[in-house]
Amino acid sequence: MIGEEEISQVRTATDLVALISTRVVLKQRRNEFWGCCPFHNEKTASFKVDPASQFYYCFGCGESGDAFTFTMKTENVDFPDAIRILARRANIELVEETSSPQRGRKARLYAVTQATVDFYHQQLMRVKGAKPDLARSYLSARGMGGEVAKQWKLGFAPGSGLLVKYLKGLGFSTQEMLDVNVAVSQRSGEEYLADRFYDRIVFPIFDIQGRAIAFGGRVFLPDDPSPAKYLNSAETRLFKKRDNLYAIDQAKAQIVIQESAIVVEGYTDTIALHQAGFTNTVATLGTALTTQHLKDLARFCNRVILLFDGDEAGQRAADRALDLIGSALAPTASDNRRADIYVALLPNALDPADYLVAAGSAALQLVIDNAVSLIRYSLNRILSGFVLAEPEQCSRAEAAALRILLPLKGTALVTNHLSYLADRLNYSEIAENEMRQRFEKLVAPRFTASTSQSDAPVNTQQPKTDINTRQAASERIISLERELLFLFIEHPELRSQLTTAFEKMIWIEQAHKSIASELIALDLAEASLAPQECLSLLTARLPEQAVTLSAAHLKEYSSIEPVKLADLLLFNIREAKLQAAINKINGERRLLNSDDPKNHELFRELAPLQQELAELRKKFRGSTN
Ligand code: UTP
Ligand code: MN
Repeated sequence: MIGEEEISQVRTATDLVALISTRVVLKQRRNEFWGCCPFHNEKTASFKVDPASQFYYCFGCGESGDAFTFTMKTENVDFPDAIRILARRANIELVEETSSPQRGRKARLYAVTQATVDFYHQQLMRVKGAKPDLARSYLSARGMGGEVAKQWKLGFAPGSGLLVKYLKGLGFSTQEMLDVNVAVSQRSGEEYLADRFYDRIVFPIFDIQGRAIAFGGRVFLPDDPSPAKYLNSAETRLFKKRDNLYAIDQAKAQIVIQESAIVVEGYTDTIALHQAGFTNTVATLGTALTTQHLKDLARFCNRVILLFDGDEAGQRAADRALDLIGSALAPTASDNRRADIYVALLPNALDPADYLVAAGSAALQLVIDNAVSLIRYSLNRILSGFVLAEPEQCSRAEAAALRILLPLKGTALVTNHLSYLADRLNYSEIAENEMRQRFEKLVAPRFTASTSQSDAPVNTQQPKTDINTRQAASERIISLERELLFLFIEHPELRSQLTTAFEKMIWIEQAHKSIASELIALDLAEASLAPQECLSLLTARLPEQAVTLSAAHLKEYSSIEPVKLADLLLFNIREAKLQAAINKINGERRLLNSDDPKNHELFRELAPLQQELAELRKKFRGSTN
């Protein structure tokens, strides 16, 4: 319960104009302030803020209220939480009577996670020692040291029960630590409480109001035996991954200002993007984007750009986003806001952070500017599965494409998409009209079906199995291999350098192996063949294998310096292979008892791999930073 006195104290301390200015650009006219209404879409200002009465009113949609209602609506919280938010903003400490045990208990859980953030951050920033030193230099090498570490409250988890001891010292109970999953109970002889994270760099996850709710821990020690790169908090009372987005607390104001949000898939990608000026970036937390995420983002902006890694996994993630079409088109429940979704895939099997290093922020901006609408993206995906020149396939393609557009029926958007489709299918005007008639006859399936489907938890909620991870890893390597082959074809000047690399390479994809040796032979026979010629000759000699390389790829991506790209691809392939080999051995070891001699043998095999990996990374980071 919050007392009346405190409420009026918060009211007095809050200036409505300043509060609203964090979200809306306001212009002063005499004694009033005007801007575009944050509660409905408009281009001319009809939203008035009156400093004298501390009330706002929109002449367009009729929304009105004070600082509390504004906070409730824009932050999507109840009245007491709105007071808490405004109190914190005004640096007023609320003395909350804990008459509600529920609320008191939850507040303590937030206190545990906050204390954990502070502890890990101190460990990273202040503590001397070999491991924290390594953690610091790892982060600096990746551009996440110093101020960046501070901004994101990055931390180092030392393990050895140090966190548990610290939290106990602050008076938190075993149950509270278990409840937010910063500790786990373990048994060796007797049961005891252990730190959940150890030897990891910690990325704290905050909710939209900036409260710490969970953690992601990344391995960084060169000889770390853990099979998974990241260990994340389990879902708790505070943390549901399908409701939360990494960095939303830091990005939300910028999302409002820039009128768009960028969504990526990784912690490090998010940080790298913010560093490069893309401060409206957030990340999903190991799930695909959910309808809930979309609703949250739609409160702040009407343009959401999904930026996916340019590998097969990224492609798959992009395809999963297609499930969102239904819900993207339905207005959200609370008000009429909805966001249009755009899709951008990065080239060359890179993730956003890699791409920034390789191509720079102007190139990334270009990728983002060229994002296509989710609907256009899905039409293209569907059509790419058919040979449109064949009449039978063409009509199947049409049927599949029309099904995608079905949720749009009756909206103004659909005309445009149907014209685009007719264009792609090479239809005459008559054929286009017939298609439009077929579309009008189609019946929409029950709408709820598609929304509930996209609401369903995505399969990544389960821990990734070894097989899944392994498959994803080899898919990534295969797509990197393919990029490398293209590089050879497209850049005659790189061929002698790449020939040396190709000769040493163990190709994962057999077709790539054949292509590589054919390419080397071709080049020796006729030096500096032009790319198109090279590709045609190759296709003539290896018709079966060469289908994996399509002429459409040529000259598609020119923003990265080719020499740099070659290095980057070779580094990524070697890194992924070493990592896969290490994971495989670790997987086998987990099945064995610790005193099994085979276990020791495997352990000895690990060392040189880990050393090579560490050296490789050091060398590569050294050459790019
Ligand atoms: P990535 O493997 O792309 O990692 O996973 P990353 O964020 O780019 O990290 P760096 O640059 O290699 O350090 C993307 C996201 O998927 C989740 C994490 O949320 C990660 O940020 N993930 C990945 C896991 O939860 N566990 C894993 O083992 C790997
Ligand atoms: Mn990544």
